[in-house]
Amino acid sequence: MWTKILDKAPKEGTMASFEVEGKKLFATLNNGELYCADNRCPHEDIELTLGCLKNNRIVCSLHGFSFDLATGHSSDEDVDCLKTYPIKQENNEIYIQL
Ligand code: FES
Repeated sequence: MWTKILDKAPKEGTMASFEVEGKKLFATLNNGELYCADNRCPHEDIELTLGCLKNNRIVCSLHGFSFDLATGHSSDEDVDCLKTYPIKQENNEIYIQL
């Protein structure tokens, strides 16, 4: 089931954080593609939106590990992958699938 999360897409290169069904998530528009993922670093409990976007990855502000926005793959094999979610735009509104 698709859940509406935003009235419009985030601006290119920015992140929007929100909560759905008790999950803290973020959405971003990066190089023209929408992405959605948990807003919690799999390494330690810190919001990933405190970090930055670089080369289609989100870089955690605490220790600098990064995660692929599309697949969630971690830059360090000892750190779990980031959970990502399907996201789409319909009539300007943004929806995700948990
Ligand atoms: S808490 Fe994010 S890389 Fe360590």
